[in-house]
Amino acid sequence: MAKRTVEVDVDEHGAFNGAELKQQGVVSYDQPLLSTATARSAITYIDGDAGILRYRGYPIEQIAERLHFLQVAYLLAHGELAPEDERQSFRRAVYDAEVDVERIDAHVNSFPVDSHPMAILISGYAALGASHPEAKHVKDAEMRKRLFPLVLAETLELGARAIARHAGVEPGRQTGDSYARRFLEVCGDAIDRARGEEAVEVFGRALDVLFVLHADHELNAGTNAMRAIGSAETDMYSSLAGAAAALYGPLHGGANEAVLRMLDSIGSLDNVAGYIERVKTHEVLLYGFGHRVYKNYDPRATVIKKVVDEVLETAGANPLLDIAQELERIALEDDYFVSRKLYPNVDFYSGIAYRAIGFDPATFTVLFAVARTVGWLCHYDELMSGEFKITRPAQVYVGKGERPVPKRA
Ligand code: SDX
Repeated sequence: MAKRTVEVDVDEHGAFNGAELKQQGVVSYDQPLLSTATARSAITYIDGDAGILRYRGYPIEQIAERLHFLQVAYLLAHGELAPEDERQSFRRAVYDAEVDVERIDAHVNSFPVDSHPMAILISGYAALGASHPEAKHVKDAEMRKRLFPLVLAETLELGARAIARHAGVEPGRQTGDSYARRFLEVCGDAIDRARGEEAVEVFGRALDVLFVLHADHELNAGTNAMRAIGSAETDMYSSLAGAAAALYGPLHGGANEAVLRMLDSIGSLDNVAGYIERVKTHEVLLYGFGHRVYKNYDPRATVIKKVVDEVLETAGANPLLDIAQELERIALEDDYFVSRKLYPNVDFYSGIAYRAIGFDPATFTVLFAVARTVGWLCHYDELMSGEFKITRPAQVYVGKGERPVPKRA
């Protein structure tokens, strides 16, 4: 390997312009984009070593305690907390948005009853785009601002109806006073209503916190996909379909569903040690653990653990929590995990809360996507508001050199 030295100018953020490499005749091979920034963003800040997460500068722990989901949506979109009058008008803009519910219903019902709800959601974003040709004017900031509350309202109906469809129940009507509560209403009997209205109130408050915690997370795979697709000047609806498809993977937003299936497969405390051994031989993953950025506890996992306690107080104890806590106890002590800095991430406990509310594990990633729609739209808007070029990575070619096609091919 020929060693070469290249000189680049590093700025105050510790970043240099990748074009300087090309000018010096080299490219960086970085498939996971481990040390390649694809955006300059002011939306979310993460310090993975310190376990810090801030939305527009506000610490996630305080946001989760003091703000509702639509307040967070406004903050992420506008960069500042909404003044009281704006707060009400933004809520009304979402709750009174003209959502074509019949069209969403027809889309959802065109799928067989037990279809995975993420298939319905992913295709649903693209289907919604067909009725919003105005979204193709991607550089129109006023259009993006006008569509923002509408897309949140459409996503509420689409996500909740996909969940109801998967459960084979009729969707309900929105009447509640929060986005999360209205979402639960449209889910109908796909959640546990056996414990009465008070319990559903508790579930609504818990879901609101979970939506807040999942709203944005800097340049994760789904959000990077949103920006990469948007860089081709694709409309926001089609870009959302791509972002949701990236989120669906079990290494990303599909992990919450994978955690529940893992806990179910372990089945009892007696089997935990055996599962850990299988993780160490790389036979299985410890889903809900590890993170590309957090090499410390994911601050969202800490908040979610409290949400789980509150939900289980109402919904009743869940033996899966004991298995999860035993997995965590072992992993936080065992050098295999400690040496790799593997800690619980946002997906480790969220599934237990969702399950206690009555959601089927197949619906968990829809819950993640509904909340993350805010972050995807905000990153898309940030991209469209500035200068950008289409995302088209370089390649390291390792294939054959030129050769002639045989005359008698
Ligand atoms: C989310 O990016 C975001 O911000 C995402 C997210 C968001 O809000 O958008 O936070 C949401 O996606 C959270 C992550 C959910 N995924 C999971 O819980 C799936 C399980 N986790 C792993 O697949 C993994 O930890 C990743 C994908 C999350 C991160 O992978 P990296 O950064 O590529 O780390 P790696 O694969 O290089 O792992 C380093 C070492 C390896 O071991 P060695 O090869 O050195 O022996 O740690 C091991 C890995 O095998 N490892 C794990 C593990 N995670 C990493 N071993 C067992 N179980 C795991 N979960």
